[in-house]
Amino acid sequence: MPDKVKETVNKLDINEKSALVQGTDFMFTNSVERLGIPKVRMSDGPHGLRLQKEGGDNGVSGSEPATAFPAGCCTASGWNSENLYKMGKAIGEECAYYGVNVLLGPAVNVKRNPLCGRNFEYFSEDPLLAGELASAQIDGVQSEGVGVALKHFALNNSENYRFMGDSICDMRAMREIYLKPFEIAVKKSKPATVMCAYNKINGVYCSENKWLLTELLRDEWGFDGLVMTDWGATHDRTEGLKAGLDLEMPGDTPYCRKTVAKGVKEGVISKEVIDTACGNVVSLAYKTQLKKRAEADFSSHDRLCAEIAEDCAVLLKNDGILPLSGDKKLCILGELFAKPRYQGSGSSMITPFKLTSPENAFNSAGADFEYSAGYRENTVEVDETLISEAVALAKKYGEALVFAGQTDLTESEGADREGMKLPANQLALIDSLLKENIKIAVVLFGGSPVELPFADSVSAILNMYLAGQNVGTAVYNLLYGISTPCGKLAETWAEKYEDIPFGEQFGKTVNEVYKESVFVGYRYFCTAGKKVRYPFGFGLSYTSFEYSDMEIFERGGSYTISCTVKNTGKMKGAEIVQLYVRPPAGVFRPERELKGFDKIYLGAGESGRVNISVPKSSLGLWDVKKGGFVTVGGEYGFLLCSDCETVKLAKTVEISGEAFINPYPDRVNEVYKNLSFEEVTDELFREMSGLTVPPLPPDKPVTLETQFRLLQGTFFGKIIYRAVTCMAEKQLKKAKKLPDGIEKDNMIKGAVFLKRILDSNCLIGMSMSAGKRMPYNLAVGIMHLCNGRIFKALKAIIFK
Ligand code: BGC
Repeated sequence: MPDKVKETVNKLDINEKSALVQGTDFMFTNSVERLGIPKVRMSDGPHGLRLQKEGGDNGVSGSEPATAFPAGCCTASGWNSENLYKMGKAIGEECAYYGVNVLLGPAVNVKRNPLCGRNFEYFSEDPLLAGELASAQIDGVQSEGVGVALKHFALNNSENYRFMGDSICDMRAMREIYLKPFEIAVKKSKPATVMCAYNKINGVYCSENKWLLTELLRDEWGFDGLVMTDWGATHDRTEGLKAGLDLEMPGDTPYCRKTVAKGVKEGVISKEVIDTACGNVVSLAYKTQLKKRAEADFSSHDRLCAEIAEDCAVLLKNDGILPLSGDKKLCILGELFAKPRYQGSGSSMITPFKLTSPENAFNSAGADFEYSAGYRENTVEVDETLISEAVALAKKYGEALVFAGQTDLTESEGADREGMKLPANQLALIDSLLKENIKIAVVLFGGSPVELPFADSVSAILNMYLAGQNVGTAVYNLLYGISTPCGKLAETWAEKYEDIPFGEQFGKTVNEVYKESVFVGYRYFCTAGKKVRYPFGFGLSYTSFEYSDMEIFERGGSYTISCTVKNTGKMKGAEIVQLYVRPPAGVFRPERELKGFDKIYLGAGESGRVNISVPKSSLGLWDVKKGGFVTVGGEYGFLLCSDCETVKLAKTVEISGEAFINPYPDRVNEVYKNLSFEEVTDELFREMSGLTVPPLPPDKPVTLETQFRLLQGTFFGKIIYRAVTCMAEKQLKKAKKLPDGIEKDNMIKGAVFLKRILDSNCLIGMSMSAGKRMPYNLAVGIMHLCNGRIFKALKAIIFK
């Protein structure tokens, strides 16, 4: 701890200390004016500011206008750290304009399953790609003197049970996959803070997990910033402090404040523990004090949005219909043309400074088109009248540009998606068009992969993901070939959800068992040789590329792999060269893993060399017996690929390794090597991981951690549930009365999100995030009431 901070901490009294380690007004830390300790203002995050208007909690829709940059699903597809750096810097500038000291992001959790409701905010199923991009965003934001909160640490890979779920995962998968992006970002970019996740890891809540927050994060990775909770993730404040959790957010919980003060007085919380936590808060407050900017360049940020979106768009299919020729009148269908989905729903929802829909962009460019909605984006119900109108219009042209995608109804924070299908009304529209032999080019929006049953029958698919507030300009430029799609998928697009390993168990109970271990995403599909719709790393261009002259040099414990790439087409474009490494045979392991990548921009006919550097240490696997990464000796394949399945150039390298004894029983190794996942019972999982899957908690009696929607199983619980969730219904009714526009849309999204959050939360989570509005004793009282213990309930409520 720096001397200045130490001196300040020594002057704090017990009340000041217990105030400092908790937040206030939803997005602030407490100040101590007497000692000149300023407050720290925070704001979501991650891809722009959701700055609450008058301080306090105004719900997700009540935020100041800011630039809604493309979301993580989109920026990841650019495989371009520079985009993230520029975006981070621009967000940092907006933070300085609004006086925000800490941005709550980036969110770097690995996409384990395509249904995770929050995948739209996360970068990738690959830890290296996720870690590198997060790192660039952190560098960008922090270059403006603003801190970040790297989140959600860790294993928050599903939403349904995020508030009380247990992520049960073997150490190897954790080290090689789930913790890796955090490790990369922490070591490379020193985020000012880390936000711990709501969930448990192997039975221990992240917010009180000493191994996670201290032994790993600080002692092993060298993190020296502040650790805060996710909003309401506190369970036992004393255990949290002892585990290395500095700041409780959003705070204002009298119960925690008293617990800390009492714990310190009675010695349950040592002076060292409380002083370290306070020191970390004080350091953060000193380090992130900014000079407020008089202005932020919102117009250039708007342009940056389109630039990034164009660089990240993924062309999934094209029979030559794209780019469109400018002299043809177009038939455009699908309401997402007029009301595009450009960001996700939940805590990251931004009030955009400006919004340019594709319709706006086509109109301002003077494009000649006729439009018919075909479906409404705010429902999944099939509307035959809208479909007939759209088909009739399309028949006049024989071809149509169809806008489709997921909407806020099918995808948001707080709940996992129910399936991988597009909304039924959109599928019905596309089916009807295909039946009439209409030639279709599809523009897709959404935060995660969807099944594309029509992929073989349409002429083109341009996937925009969630491309930010200037989505319209980007779509226009890409469709007309003013720019070329330059992105590649940062996640696998499976043909159907049934192909996802252990997909049927995902998000179903509080026990989220990571039975597939390290076989996540393409690591599973490539090893199993299973067909997918579009593989990880895949993306077409309006031009074509040729690879040649692969070379590998070894120097100073690192390999440099290079090759020449030539643009053999007629347009300028970019190629993302991916290096996968195939390890020697032995212990179960993915057949290939991404170890590096490089993106090269080339004009028509131009060539250039790409260089990818791979430290030898990164080729290791986690040795569970030794407790460290080990590079196994043997023959490694170095594969230069255009996607994870398409090898362009390859060489083998003999690497002398370290001693390694396969730690797994033969049967475990065989089952996992053959990916015979039907044989992975709880018992085999235990043999592989050393972890026993705990029994599921009963629904009754109700505890502080029972999911809120389950309270309806009791008489009083049902009344309480209705009383609380009617808040969301009221908000929805109010929103529907508003005139059409961003405010109405955002308020509707906010209400839907609120309902999801309430349903999936629990009494303690609500109490810890609602401050004085739902004090702890009230949560305890409600619990007793649900269990029919009227006197106990009254006692808890009245005597606090
Ligand atoms: C989310 C965080 C977010 C926080 C504050 C939580 O519910 O999980 O990502 O930063 O709320 O809005």
